[in-house]
Amino acid sequence: MMGVVASGRAVIEVADLRKSYGPHEAVRGLSFTVSRGEVYGLLGPNGAGKTTTVEILEGHRRRTSGHVQVLGSDPGKRAPELLARIGIVLQQCGLYPHLTVTEAVSHWAGLHAAPRDVDEVIALVGLTDAREQRSGTLSGGQSRRLDLALALVGDPEVLFLDEPTTGFDPAARRAAWATIRDLRALGKTVLLTTHYLDEAQALADRVAIIKDGRLVAEGAPAELGAGAASYRVAYRLEGTHYEQETEDPTELLHRVTAEALSRGQRLDGLSVTRPTLEDVYLGLTTEEAVPA
Ligand SMILES: Nc1ncnc2c1ncn2[C@@H]1O[C@H](COP(=O)(O)OP(=O)(O)OP(=O)(O)O)[C@@H](O)[C@H]1O
Ligand SMILES: [Mg+2]
Repeated sequence: MMGVVASGRAVIEVADLRKSYGPHEAVRGLSFTVSRGEVYGLLGPNGAGKTTTVEILEGHRRRTSGHVQVLGSDPGKRAPELLARIGIVLQQCGLYPHLTVTEAVSHWAGLHAAPRDVDEVIALVGLTDAREQRSGTLSGGQSRRLDLALALVGDPEVLFLDEPTTGFDPAARRAAWATIRDLRALGKTVLLTTHYLDEAQALADRVAIIKDGRLVAEGAPAELGAGAASYRVAYRLEGTHYEQETEDPTELLHRVTAEALSRGQRLDGLSVTRPTLEDVYLGLTTEEAVPA
């Protein structure tokens, strides 16, 4: 499946984006586009520049240079019409500690023209039982769920989710995935960052792997895994572990199994696998940095 959706123009456009903090260039010429209805994942090690990029797209940080558009507008201008059409989960949040969950979500809903139903959104993120609790007293995972509720309640066209499920228990993470899939089914566009590669694999139509402020790979999660290397064939023979990469596992399996059989041997634990997104990610992000 190709990740790029044919329908219309890009909802998010980033071209040669750069951002320096003093002498440190955190984003070094990033370019990518996200189409309407797409879930696009930004992956990369701590400090790669993901939050910087997302916050520039949200209008929360100024870029040093480059071109950025969200829904056809420059988010740097912070036009209220644009801000009303986007929803945000910040990496660090904790707004409104003194308000209850219901009060916080209602307050946020009131800032939007056509909000979703407050109770429904609270139920969607699994906070119904905590709805009268003050936000400041929520557990870590519960307060992340509140962040997600605040992003959803305005019924935005575009969602920026910066590590939206960090601290979620496994069931809550699955529930959040279902919510994000529902958003995509409604034609919403989602830009998300995550350190959970299973999350990227499960949700993202395409991912970009970012390292030191540069894009080092982009594609559908399955294509990235498949494109990087071929197949890996592994087996044990007389106590020794063998592992080979090949473009043509049929030929390789035929050869090694025929040789083994002709000697009356067995290949133990024979497996054929493809590199996972995690293999590709680690291969691209843990190599020694190439000097700029
Ligand atoms: N306000 C700031 N002032 C100075 N440097 C900053 C600021 N914000 C971020 N940086 C630096 O910019 C780089 C990119 O940071 P950023 O927060 O974008 O990374 P990230 O990819 O989101 O990382 P993480 O996975 O840890 O969230 C880091 O080296 C960070 O120290
Ligand atoms: Mg970050």
